[in-house]
Amino acid sequence: MSAKLQPAARVSNRRQDVWSIINEAAAASPKQPIVNMGQGFFGYNPPDFILNAAKGALDRVECNQYSPTKGRPRLKKAISDAYAPHWGRKLDPETEITITTGANEGMLSAFMAFIEPGDEVIVFEPFFDQYISNIEMPGGKIVYVPMHPPEEGGFKTLSAAEWTIDFAELERAITPRTKMLVLNTPHNPVGKVYSREELVKIADLCLKHQIIILSDEVYDRLFYVPFTRIATLSPEVEKITITVGSAGKNFYATGWRVGWLMGPPDLIQYVSAAHTRICYSSVSPLQEACAIGFEQAEAEGFWDTCITDMRSKMTLFNSIWDELGLPYSEPEGGYFVMANFSKVELPADYPFPAHVAERPRDFQLAWFLIQELGVAAIPPSEFYTDANAHIVEDYLRFAVCKPDEVLEDAKERLRGLKKYIKN
Ligand SMILES: Cc1ncc(COP(=O)(O)O)c(C=O)c1O
Repeated sequence: MSAKLQPAARVSNRRQDVWSIINEAAAASPKQPIVNMGQGFFGYNPPDFILNAAKGALDRVECNQYSPTKGRPRLKKAISDAYAPHWGRKLDPETEITITTGANEGMLSAFMAFIEPGDEVIVFEPFFDQYISNIEMPGGKIVYVPMHPPEEGGFKTLSAAEWTIDFAELERAITPRTKMLVLNTPHNPVGKVYSREELVKIADLCLKHQIIILSDEVYDRLFYVPFTRIATLSPEVEKITITVGSAGKNFYATGWRVGWLMGPPDLIQYVSAAHTRICYSSVSPLQEACAIGFEQAEAEGFWDTCITDMRSKMTLFNSIWDELGLPYSEPEGGYFVMANFSKVELPADYPFPAHVAERPRDFQLAWFLIQELGVAAIPPSEFYTDANAHIVEDYLRFAVCKPDEVLEDAKERLRGLKKYIKN
Protein backbone atom coordinates (compact mmCIF):
# COMPACT_ATOMS: atom_id res chain seq x y z
CA MET A 1 0.00 0.00 0.00
CA SER A 2 1.25 3.48 -0.79
CA ALA A 3 2.82 5.15 2.25
CA LYS A 4 0.30 7.98 1.92
CA LEU A 5 -2.57 5.55 2.47
CA GLN A 6 -1.12 4.27 5.75
CA PRO A 7 -3.04 5.04 8.94
CA ALA A 8 -1.55 7.28 11.63
CA ALA A 9 0.41 5.52 14.38
CA ARG A 10 -2.16 6.59 16.99
CA VAL A 11 -4.72 4.15 15.58
CA SER A 12 -2.49 1.44 14.10
CA ASN A 13 0.33 -0.67 15.57
CA ARG A 14 -1.88 -2.09 18.26
CA ARG A 15 -1.70 -5.70 19.33
CA GLN A 16 -4.96 -7.62 19.43
CA ASP A 17 -6.89 -6.15 22.34
CA VAL A 18 -8.58 -8.06 25.10
CA TRP A 19 -12.10 -7.49 23.76
CA SER A 20 -11.36 -9.07 20.39
CA ILE A 21 -9.54 -12.03 22.00
CA ILE A 22 -12.45 -12.66 24.36
CA ASN A 23 -15.01 -12.28 21.55
CA GLU A 24 -13.01 -14.65 19.37
CA ALA A 25 -12.85 -17.19 22.21
CA ALA A 26 -16.58 -16.80 22.82
CA ALA A 27 -17.39 -17.41 19.16
CA ALA A 28 -15.13 -20.51 19.08
CA SER A 29 -16.44 -22.00 22.35
CA PRO A 30 -18.39 -25.26 22.11
CA LYS A 31 -20.46 -24.13 25.14
CA GLN A 32 -23.03 -21.96 23.36
CA PRO A 33 -24.50 -19.63 24.31
CA ILE A 34 -21.75 -18.53 26.66
CA VAL A 35 -22.50 -16.54 29.81
CA ASN A 36 -20.86 -13.18 29.23
CA MET A 37 -19.59 -11.64 32.44
CA GLY A 38 -16.77 -9.90 30.63
CA GLN A 39 -17.79 -6.47 29.46
CA GLY A 40 -19.38 -4.05 31.91
CA PHE A 41 -22.73 -3.51 30.24
CA PHE A 42 -26.01 -4.08 32.03
CA GLY A 43 -28.09 -7.15 31.30
CA TYR A 44 -31.31 -5.28 32.13
CA ASN A 45 -33.05 -2.01 31.30
CA PRO A 46 -33.13 1.33 33.09
CA PRO A 47 -36.23 1.73 35.30
CA ASP A 48 -39.48 2.79 33.63
CA PHE A 49 -39.40 6.41 34.80
CA ILE A 50 -36.16 6.88 32.86
CA LEU A 51 -37.15 4.82 29.81
CA ASN A 52 -40.46 6.69 29.57
CA ALA A 53 -38.62 10.00 29.79
CA ALA A 54 -36.53 8.97 26.75
CA LYS A 55 -39.60 7.88 24.81
CA GLY A 56 -41.37 11.14 25.66
CA ALA A 57 -38.38 13.22 24.61
CA LEU A 58 -38.48 11.74 21.11
CA ASP A 59 -41.94 13.25 20.58
CA ARG A 60 -40.71 16.79 21.23
CA VAL A 61 -39.40 18.77 18.27
CA GLU A 62 -36.70 20.61 20.22
CA CYS A 63 -35.39 17.35 21.68
CA ASN A 64 -34.57 16.00 18.24
CA GLN A 65 -32.38 18.95 17.27
CA TYR A 66 -28.92 20.17 18.28
CA SER A 67 -28.40 20.80 21.95
CA PRO A 68 -26.15 23.64 23.14
CA THR A 69 -22.54 22.47 22.88
CA LYS A 70 -22.10 22.53 26.66
CA GLY A 71 -25.26 20.53 27.19
CA ARG A 72 -28.98 21.05 27.72
CA PRO A 73 -29.71 23.61 30.46
CA ARG A 74 -32.29 21.29 32.05
CA LEU A 75 -29.71 18.48 32.43
CA LYS A 76 -27.00 20.78 33.80
CA LYS A 77 -29.45 22.16 36.36
CA ALA A 78 -30.63 18.66 37.30
CA ILE A 79 -26.99 17.57 37.80
CA SER A 80 -26.26 20.67 39.85
CA ASP A 81 -29.27 19.92 42.09
CA ALA A 82 -28.50 16.19 42.35
CA TYR A 83 -24.85 16.73 43.31
CA ALA A 84 -25.49 19.60 45.75
CA PRO A 85 -25.83 17.32 48.81
CA HIS A 86 -22.51 15.70 47.94
CA TRP A 87 -20.67 18.94 47.18
CA GLY A 88 -22.09 20.98 50.03
CA ARG A 89 -23.13 23.66 47.52
CA LYS A 90 -24.76 23.97 44.13
CA LEU A 91 -22.38 23.91 41.20
CA ASP A 92 -23.05 26.68 38.68
CA PRO A 93 -24.74 24.88 35.78
CA GLU A 94 -23.41 27.47 33.31
CA THR A 95 -19.74 27.44 34.22
CA GLU A 96 -18.98 24.41 36.38
CA ILE A 97 -20.73 21.59 34.47
CA THR A 98 -20.38 20.48 30.87
CA ILE A 99 -22.18 17.59 29.17
CA THR A 100 -20.22 15.12 27.05
CA THR A 101 -20.85 12.08 24.88
CA GLY A 102 -20.30 9.58 27.67
CA ALA A 103 -17.60 9.84 30.29
CA ASN A 104 -15.12 8.58 27.75
CA GLU A 105 -15.46 11.50 25.36
CA GLY A 106 -15.48 13.81 28.38
CA MET A 107 -12.08 12.51 29.42
CA LEU A 108 -10.76 12.77 25.86
CA SER A 109 -11.92 16.41 25.88
CA ALA A 110 -10.13 17.00 29.18
CA PHE A 111 -6.85 15.61 27.81
CA MET A 112 -7.30 17.52 24.54
CA ALA A 113 -7.85 20.67 26.58
CA PHE A 114 -4.72 20.45 28.74
CA ILE A 115 -2.13 18.12 27.25
CA GLU A 116 0.58 19.34 24.89
CA PRO A 117 2.90 16.80 23.23
CA GLY A 118 5.36 15.48 25.81
CA ASP A 119 3.29 16.43 28.85
CA GLU A 120 3.07 13.60 31.37
CA VAL A 121 -0.08 12.06 32.83
CA ILE A 122 0.05 9.73 35.83
CA VAL A 123 -2.23 6.72 35.54
CA PHE A 124 -2.64 4.02 38.18
CA GLU A 125 -2.53 0.39 37.09
CA PRO A 126 -4.88 -1.36 36.57
CA PHE A 127 -6.42 1.37 34.39
CA PHE A 128 -9.59 1.72 32.32
CA ASP A 129 -8.14 0.98 28.90
CA GLN A 130 -9.62 4.02 27.09
CA TYR A 131 -7.47 6.40 29.18
CA ILE A 132 -4.41 5.28 27.29
CA SER A 133 -5.42 6.19 23.73
CA ASN A 134 -7.22 9.29 25.02
CA ILE A 135 -3.96 10.55 26.53
CA GLU A 136 -1.90 9.53 23.51
CA MET A 137 -4.17 11.40 21.05
CA PRO A 138 -2.89 14.86 22.06
CA GLY A 139 0.66 13.46 22.41
CA GLY A 140 0.69 12.91 26.18
CA LYS A 141 3.18 10.56 27.82
CA ILE A 142 1.69 8.11 30.31
CA VAL A 143 3.58 7.47 33.53
CA TYR A 144 2.28 4.35 35.24
CA VAL A 145 2.07 3.76 38.97
CA PRO A 146 0.83 0.28 39.99
CA MET A 147 -1.77 -0.49 42.62
CA HIS A 148 -0.49 -3.42 44.67
CA PRO A 149 -2.84 -6.29 45.57
CA PRO A 150 -2.62 -7.72 49.08
CA GLU A 151 0.12 -10.32 49.42
CA GLU A 152 -2.32 -12.81 50.88
CA GLY A 153 -4.78 -12.30 47.97
CA GLY A 154 -4.00 -15.76 46.57
CA PHE A 155 -5.39 -17.61 49.55
CA LYS A 156 -7.62 -15.21 51.48
CA THR A 157 -10.68 -13.15 50.58
CA LEU A 158 -9.89 -9.58 51.59
CA SER A 159 -11.46 -6.18 51.04
CA ALA A 160 -10.63 -4.39 47.79
CA ALA A 161 -9.37 -1.65 50.15
CA GLU A 162 -6.24 -3.80 50.51
CA TRP A 163 -5.11 -2.86 47.00
CA THR A 164 -2.80 0.01 47.78
CA ILE A 165 -0.65 2.71 46.28
CA ASP A 166 2.92 3.12 47.39
CA PHE A 167 2.95 6.90 47.92
CA ALA A 168 6.75 7.10 47.70
CA GLU A 169 6.48 5.39 44.31
CA LEU A 170 3.79 7.91 43.31
CA GLU A 171 5.95 10.87 44.34
CA ARG A 172 8.93 9.47 42.41
CA ALA A 173 6.74 9.31 39.28
CA ILE A 174 6.17 13.10 39.38
CA THR A 175 8.42 15.24 37.17
CA PRO A 176 8.32 18.90 36.13
CA ARG A 177 6.31 17.77 33.07
CA THR A 178 3.57 16.04 35.07
CA LYS A 179 0.41 17.86 34.02
CA MET A 180 -2.41 15.58 35.08
CA LEU A 181 -3.18 12.58 37.30
CA VAL A 182 -6.08 10.22 36.60
CA LEU A 183 -7.89 8.81 39.60
CA ASN A 184 -10.72 6.27 39.46
CA THR A 185 -12.95 5.71 42.47
CA PRO A 186 -14.97 3.50 42.88
CA HIS A 187 -12.41 1.59 40.86
CA ASN A 188 -12.74 -0.56 37.75
CA PRO A 189 -11.64 -3.38 37.89
CA VAL A 190 -10.51 -3.59 41.53
CA GLY A 191 -13.71 -2.43 43.27
CA LYS A 192 -11.71 -0.21 45.62
CA VAL A 193 -13.17 3.01 47.00
CA TYR A 194 -10.21 5.22 47.91
CA SER A 195 -10.29 6.23 51.55
CA ARG A 196 -10.31 9.85 52.61
CA GLU A 197 -6.75 9.46 53.94
CA GLU A 198 -5.51 8.12 50.61
CA LEU A 199 -7.26 10.91 48.71
CA VAL A 200 -5.72 13.53 50.99
CA LYS A 201 -2.25 12.15 50.22
CA ILE A 202 -2.90 12.17 46.47
CA ALA A 203 -4.41 15.67 46.62
CA ASP A 204 -1.50 17.03 48.69
CA LEU A 205 0.98 15.82 46.07
CA CYS A 206 -1.10 17.31 43.28
CA LEU A 207 -1.40 20.64 45.08
CA LYS A 208 2.33 20.72 45.81
CA HIS A 209 3.23 20.05 42.17
CA GLN A 210 0.21 21.85 40.62
CA ILE A 211 -1.12 18.78 38.82
CA ILE A 212 -4.70 18.65 37.49
CA ILE A 213 -6.68 15.76 38.99
CA LEU A 214 -9.05 14.02 36.58
CA SER A 215 -11.26 12.05 38.95
CA ASP A 216 -13.19 9.36 37.11
CA GLU A 217 -16.19 8.76 39.37
CA VAL A 218 -18.50 7.03 36.89
CA TYR A 219 -19.49 4.45 39.54
CA ASP A 220 -20.35 7.18 42.04
CA ARG A 221 -23.82 5.77 42.83
CA LEU A 222 -22.46 2.29 43.59
CA PHE A 223 -20.55 2.38 46.85
CA TYR A 224 -20.79 -0.06 49.74
CA VAL A 225 -18.48 1.83 52.13
CA PRO A 226 -18.26 5.60 52.73
CA PHE A 227 -17.33 7.34 49.47
CA THR A 228 -15.38 10.59 49.39
CA ARG A 229 -15.15 12.74 46.26
CA ILE A 230 -11.66 14.18 46.02
CA ALA A 231 -12.95 17.55 44.76
CA THR A 232 -14.78 18.03 48.07
CA LEU A 233 -11.67 17.73 50.27
CA SER A 234 -11.03 21.49 50.25
CA PRO A 235 -11.58 24.58 48.05
CA GLU A 236 -7.90 24.33 47.01
CA VAL A 237 -8.30 20.74 45.80
CA GLU A 238 -11.56 21.61 44.06
CA LYS A 239 -9.69 24.26 42.03
CA ILE A 240 -7.42 21.63 40.45
CA THR A 241 -9.99 18.83 40.04
CA ILE A 242 -12.21 17.81 37.14
CA THR A 243 -14.78 15.17 38.18
CA VAL A 244 -16.18 12.77 35.60
CA GLY A 245 -19.71 11.32 35.65
CA SER A 246 -21.65 8.91 33.43
CA ALA A 247 -25.39 8.53 32.87
CA GLY A 248 -24.58 5.18 31.29
CA LYS A 249 -23.39 3.87 34.63
CA ASN A 250 -25.83 5.84 36.81
CA PHE A 251 -28.97 4.87 34.86
CA TYR A 252 -28.08 1.39 33.49
CA ALA A 253 -27.86 2.83 29.97
CA THR A 254 -24.27 2.54 28.74
CA GLY A 255 -25.44 2.87 25.13
CA TRP A 256 -26.95 6.30 25.66
CA ARG A 257 -23.56 7.97 25.67
CA VAL A 258 -24.33 10.80 28.06
CA GLY A 259 -21.66 11.92 30.51
CA TRP A 260 -20.55 15.13 32.24
CA LEU A 261 -17.56 16.87 33.73
CA MET A 262 -17.73 19.05 36.81
CA GLY A 263 -15.06 21.45 38.00
CA PRO A 264 -13.97 25.07 38.34
CA PRO A 265 -14.84 27.43 35.45
CA ASP A 266 -11.12 27.94 34.68
CA LEU A 267 -10.81 24.27 33.78
CA ILE A 268 -14.29 23.48 32.48
CA GLN A 269 -14.33 26.24 29.84
CA TYR A 270 -11.40 24.64 28.01
CA VAL A 271 -12.82 21.14 28.28
CA SER A 272 -16.06 22.48 26.75
CA ALA A 273 -14.05 24.07 23.94
CA ALA A 274 -12.34 20.75 23.16
CA HIS A 275 -15.67 18.89 23.34
CA THR A 276 -17.16 21.33 20.82
CA ARG A 277 -14.30 20.57 18.41
CA ILE A 278 -14.67 16.80 18.86
CA CYS A 279 -18.42 16.24 18.54
CA TYR A 280 -20.06 19.67 18.75
CA SER A 281 -22.83 18.56 21.08
CA SER A 282 -24.25 15.36 22.58
CA VAL A 283 -27.42 13.34 21.97
CA SER A 284 -30.41 15.62 22.69
CA PRO A 285 -33.34 13.31 23.58
CA LEU A 286 -31.21 11.21 25.89
CA GLN A 287 -29.83 14.29 27.65
CA GLU A 288 -33.44 15.27 28.27
CA ALA A 289 -34.22 11.77 29.59
CA CYS A 290 -31.19 11.95 31.92
CA ALA A 291 -32.38 15.34 33.19
CA ILE A 292 -35.72 13.79 34.10
CA GLY A 293 -33.87 10.80 35.57
CA PHE A 294 -31.94 13.09 37.91
CA GLU A 295 -35.02 15.14 38.77
CA GLN A 296 -36.99 12.04 39.80
CA ALA A 297 -34.34 9.60 41.05
CA GLU A 298 -34.46 10.62 44.69
CA ALA A 299 -38.26 10.51 44.94
CA GLU A 300 -38.27 7.13 43.18
CA GLY A 301 -35.77 5.81 45.74
CA PHE A 302 -33.59 4.91 42.74
CA TRP A 303 -30.16 5.70 44.21
CA ASP A 304 -30.82 3.46 47.20
CA THR A 305 -32.16 0.73 44.92
CA CYS A 306 -28.98 0.90 42.81
CA ILE A 307 -26.88 0.08 45.85
CA THR A 308 -29.19 -2.54 47.34
CA ASP A 309 -29.64 -4.35 44.03
CA MET A 310 -25.96 -4.38 43.06
CA ARG A 311 -24.88 -5.46 46.53
CA SER A 312 -27.32 -8.32 46.42
CA LYS A 313 -25.97 -9.36 42.99
CA MET A 314 -22.46 -9.26 44.43
CA THR A 315 -23.47 -11.48 47.34
CA LEU A 316 -25.39 -13.85 45.09
CA PHE A 317 -22.53 -14.27 42.63
CA ASN A 318 -19.57 -14.23 45.00
CA SER A 319 -20.94 -17.12 47.04
CA ILE A 320 -19.55 -19.33 44.24
CA TRP A 321 -15.99 -18.38 45.22
CA ASP A 322 -16.67 -19.27 48.86
CA GLU A 323 -18.14 -22.57 47.67
CA LEU A 324 -15.11 -23.32 45.46
CA GLY A 325 -12.61 -22.09 48.04
CA LEU A 326 -11.23 -19.45 45.68
CA PRO A 327 -10.44 -16.04 47.20
CA TYR A 328 -11.62 -12.74 45.76
CA SER A 329 -11.34 -9.04 46.46
CA GLU A 330 -14.50 -8.00 48.27
CA PRO A 331 -15.68 -4.94 46.27
CA GLU A 332 -16.24 -1.65 48.10
CA GLY A 333 -17.97 -0.14 45.06
CA GLY A 334 -18.82 -0.55 41.38
CA TYR A 335 -20.00 -3.76 39.72
CA PHE A 336 -16.82 -5.71 39.09
CA VAL A 337 -15.27 -8.43 41.20
CA MET A 338 -11.73 -9.74 40.91
CA ALA A 339 -11.41 -13.44 41.75
CA ASN A 340 -8.04 -15.07 42.35
CA PHE A 341 -7.33 -18.27 40.43
CA SER A 342 -3.86 -19.13 41.77
CA LYS A 343 -5.30 -22.42 43.08
CA VAL A 344 -6.59 -23.37 39.62
CA GLU A 345 -4.27 -25.71 37.76
CA LEU A 346 -4.64 -25.53 33.98
CA PRO A 347 -3.92 -28.80 32.11
CA ALA A 348 -0.23 -28.71 31.07
CA ASP A 349 -0.93 -29.74 27.48
CA TYR A 350 -3.97 -27.49 26.92
CA PRO A 351 -4.09 -26.30 23.27
CA PHE A 352 -4.01 -22.52 23.73
CA PRO A 353 -3.67 -20.60 20.47
CA ALA A 354 -0.23 -18.96 20.15
CA HIS A 355 -1.53 -15.41 20.74
CA VAL A 356 -3.05 -16.55 24.05
CA ALA A 357 -0.16 -18.81 25.10
CA GLU A 358 2.24 -15.88 24.85
CA ARG A 359 0.14 -13.59 27.05
CA PRO A 360 0.16 -13.70 30.89
CA ARG A 361 -1.59 -16.55 32.68
CA ASP A 362 -4.85 -14.64 33.17
CA PHE A 363 -5.40 -14.68 29.38
CA GLN A 364 -5.05 -18.46 29.46
CA LEU A 365 -7.43 -18.68 32.42
CA ALA A 366 -9.97 -16.56 30.55
CA TRP A 367 -9.62 -18.64 27.37
CA PHE A 368 -9.96 -21.87 29.35
CA LEU A 369 -13.08 -20.68 31.18
CA ILE A 370 -14.77 -19.74 27.92
CA GLN A 371 -13.86 -22.97 26.13
CA GLU A 372 -14.46 -25.44 28.96
CA LEU A 373 -17.22 -23.81 31.02
CA GLY A 374 -18.74 -21.25 28.68
CA VAL A 375 -18.22 -18.30 31.05
CA ALA A 376 -16.50 -15.13 29.79
CA ALA A 377 -14.43 -12.96 32.15
CA ILE A 378 -11.75 -10.35 31.50
CA PRO A 379 -8.02 -10.90 32.10
CA PRO A 380 -6.96 -7.80 34.06
CA SER A 381 -3.31 -7.84 32.98
CA GLU A 382 -4.67 -6.04 29.89
CA PHE A 383 -5.03 -3.08 32.27
CA TYR A 384 -1.35 -3.16 33.31
CA THR A 385 1.83 -2.45 31.39
CA ASP A 386 3.86 -5.52 30.32
CA ALA A 387 6.36 -4.85 33.09
CA ASN A 388 3.67 -5.03 35.78
CA ALA A 389 1.29 -7.58 34.18
CA HIS A 390 2.55 -10.35 36.49
CA ILE A 391 0.91 -8.53 39.43
CA VAL A 392 -2.54 -9.72 38.34
CA GLU A 393 -1.85 -12.82 36.29
CA ASP A 394 -3.86 -15.00 38.70
CA TYR A 395 -6.93 -12.76 38.68
CA LEU A 396 -10.01 -12.56 36.44
CA ARG A 397 -12.58 -9.76 36.41
CA PHE A 398 -16.30 -10.56 36.42
CA ALA A 399 -19.08 -8.00 35.81
CA VAL A 400 -22.10 -8.74 38.01
CA CYS A 401 -24.47 -6.18 36.40
CA LYS A 402 -26.48 -9.05 34.92
CA PRO A 403 -29.91 -10.54 35.69
CA ASP A 404 -29.93 -12.92 38.67
CA GLU A 405 -30.73 -15.91 36.38
CA VAL A 406 -27.56 -15.18 34.43
CA LEU A 407 -25.55 -15.03 37.66
CA GLU A 408 -27.06 -18.37 38.74
CA ASP A 409 -26.21 -19.89 35.36
CA ALA A 410 -22.63 -18.60 35.64
CA LYS A 411 -22.32 -20.09 39.13
CA GLU A 412 -23.58 -23.45 37.96
CA ARG A 413 -21.04 -23.47 35.14
CA LEU A 414 -18.20 -22.33 37.41
CA ARG A 415 -18.82 -25.39 39.61
CA GLY A 416 -17.09 -27.22 36.74
CA LEU A 417 -13.83 -25.68 38.01
CA LYS A 418 -13.78 -27.99 41.04
CA LYS A 419 -11.71 -30.66 39.38
CA TYR A 420 -8.99 -28.16 38.45
CA ILE A 421 -8.58 -26.68 41.93
CA LYS A 422 -5.58 -27.81 43.97
CA ASN A 423 -5.60 -27.32 47.70
C1 LIG B 1 -13.68 3.48 34.98
C2 LIG B 1 -14.49 3.83 33.80
N1 LIG B 1 -14.47 5.08 33.34
C3 LIG B 1 -15.21 5.45 32.28
C4 LIG B 1 -16.00 4.54 31.60
C5 LIG B 1 -16.76 4.98 30.39
O1 LIG B 1 -17.99 5.52 30.70
P1 LIG B 1 -18.98 5.97 29.54
O2 LIG B 1 -19.68 4.73 29.06
O3 LIG B 1 -19.91 6.96 30.15
O4 LIG B 1 -18.14 6.57 28.46
C6 LIG B 1 -16.04 3.21 32.04
C7 LIG B 1 -16.84 2.22 31.30
O5 LIG B 1 -16.69 1.02 31.47
C8 LIG B 1 -15.27 2.85 33.16
O6 LIG B 1 -15.26 1.60 33.62
